[in-house]
Parts: sequence; structure tokens; C-alpha cells
Amino acid sequence: MNDDRYPDIERLIELDFVRATEAAALNVFHWVGRGQKEKADAAACDAMRGMFDLMDIRGEVVIGEGIKDNAPGIFKGEKLGKWGPTAPRYHIAVDPIDGTTNVSKGAGSSISVIAAASPEPGAADALKDIPSFYTMKMAYGPQVKSYVERLGVDCLHLKSPIDEILPVVARALRKRVRDLVVCVLDRPRHERLIEEIRSAGCGLRLISDGDVTAAMAPSMPEGHIDVYLGIGGAPEAVLAAAAIKCLGGEMQVQMWPRDATEREALIEQGYGAELDRVFYADDLAKGNNILFCATAILECAGMAGIRFTRSHAVTHSLLVRAKNRTIRWIQTYHDLRYKTIRLRSLAKERPLHEGS
Ligand code: FBP
Repeated sequence: MNDDRYPDIERLIELDFVRATEAAALNVFHWVGRGQKEKADAAACDAMRGMFDLMDIRGEVVIGEGIKDNAPGIFKGEKLGKWGPTAPRYHIAVDPIDGTTNVSKGAGSSISVIAAASPEPGAADALKDIPSFYTMKMAYGPQVKSYVERLGVDCLHLKSPIDEILPVVARALRKRVRDLVVCVLDRPRHERLIEEIRSAGCGLRLISDGDVTAAMAPSMPEGHIDVYLGIGGAPEAVLAAAAIKCLGGEMQVQMWPRDATEREALIEQGYGAELDRVFYADDLAKGNNILFCATAILECAGMAGIRFTRSHAVTHSLLVRAKNRTIRWIQTYHDLRYKTIRLRSLAKERPLHEGS
């Protein structure tokens, strides 16, 4: 498959990854608002696997989804693609739906998302699989990143108190602290963090689910979020880190064991030394052979959700690569007379208008 005419094979394959998130998002749409998270997850996985069945890649899932609630998912270790002998290899992180609860409620903000990476020559991996269930996260955009690089990495630290973090972000963005907008997952575990942000006097956006796009938001051109903070899923941290790296922003991440039992289990598995380590986007998504794409199911940061007209289904996707940092917004009109989705379960295409 590697061809001298196409030395940069990602340029050919990237659109097929977008087709995979589009297919998953479209196949889920029928389940929006129906209160059936698992059926939605299963529909997304079926369509995503179906699209990968058409792709001549050797893909291996290194970060999967589906641990939560034993939901159906695409799991770590699964092989995706046709695995032709000369097909390019990809390590894949995937979440067929980030924001499953939102989908089941019909509440905004959910995406289908993939990060794919080829390890650089000599490197064993490109995407870091974080073994804890949750991680602590702080994400900020390119302007803050370059300010921090000029002043030295220690001026902005994930573990610092909020009243030290916010003034640095404000100075980097040339704003007043009170004009900053911070985004946090609305969870009881964030009660104190939320209080501290409110006392600092800045804007707060509490989200109910879906922290991949929330963490990406400060790095988006024309985004309205200045910094994302808080504790969320570990796989979502790596997906967000891949996107943020391609967008030129930064993310700091640390494992956050839920309790003593998880902490001890991590130590027993040999991760003791990494428990206190702060990972940056480059540590989680290594090298430059990284691409990230997402299709919105329901509206979220910068992307409109799926819309059906009488004749078309309209999807909005984001495609970015670490190599060139080009940001592509892809608005696709799928003609309902012709559009089919390949499903793994049927091993064939099914017309989109027949629904899931
Ligand atoms: P799922 O859609 O996979 O359930 O994840 C949604 C999500 O909101 C993530 O975006 C976030 O990282 C995580 O759940 C937070 O976990 P919890 O809901 O347990 O606080």
C-alpha cells in the first residue's frame, strides 16, 4: 500500500478515518433521546467496525472504550482494518461515542472520535495507554502554551492551587482573571474546584458529559473556553491530548486513582513510579504521525450536531494532523437516496434511511 507516488500515506487514509466517525455518528442518531445507552454504543461500534473492514490498514486498538458500565465497545487489542501484508500500521484510540449519557437523553454534546498514530521509527508506541480509570486534567490553548514555554514549564502546573493557575492563564491571554472562562465536568468530586473557580470570580461552564471536546475547546480557533480543568476518564485524556497536540495547544494529565484499592492495584501492576508523573500532550501522543478526527452526534464545541433534511443527513466533522497542523472542518451532505453504512454485524451495506 505504501506507494512512491504517495509518500505521505496519511493524506490518503485520513478521510477514511473521518468516514468511520461519520458512519458511527449517523448510525447512532436513531438512538438519540431514547434512554438506551447500550443500544446507542452498539450501533456506533457496529458502523465503525464496518467502515474499518473496508480500509486497507493494519490497525490495532491500543486505547479502547467500554470499561464503564460494561457497555458494548471497541476494546484494547482488537484488530481493525483488512491487515493486508503491506498495509500501513496504526495504533488506534477510539471512543465510538463520547457522551453516551447525553445521547441517551438527547442532551447536547456528544461525538464519535478516533486518534490514529504510527510510532516513529524505533519507538514501541505512539499513544500512551494510561492504566487508571480517571485522570486529573488541565488543558489550554496555543497562546498559553507558548507563554509557558517562554517563562518555563513550572509557571503553570496541574497540581498548583487554582489561585495560582488562573492568573498565569490570564496573563498569557492578556485578559483579566474575571474574564476567563473555565470548563469543568459537573460532578460531586469537583465541588471544591468549582467553589474555588467561582471565588476567583471568573466564568464557569459546567458540562454534564463529554470531556474530549471540552478539553480541546481552549485550543480551538475562536473557542470560548480558556482552560479545561478537572477529573475525567483516562482514555478520553489521551484522545484529547492527540487532538490538542495537532491543534498546537497543551494538556497536563496525572493518574487519579479513585480509592486506595485502585492505587494499590496500580502499584502492584508496576505503575507506582508513574502515579505522581504529570504527562504532557507529547507524552500521551508521541511523534508526528498522529491524526485525530471526530464527528458530532449532538452539537458540541464548534461542531453542529447531525441534522436530517428531507433529502440529506448533514454531518460536521473535525480532522487534524500533527504533521501539518491543518484544521479541517468537514461538512458532509449524505444523500438519503444513496447513502449506505456498512455494518460489521451484517457484513454488508445498509441504506441509511432504513435506520438502526
Ligand atoms: P462515555 O460517553 O464513554 O460514558 O464518557 C462520557 C464522559 O463524560 C467522558 O467524556 C468523561 O471523561 C467521563 O465520562 C467522566 O466520567 P464520569 O461520568 O464517571 O464522571
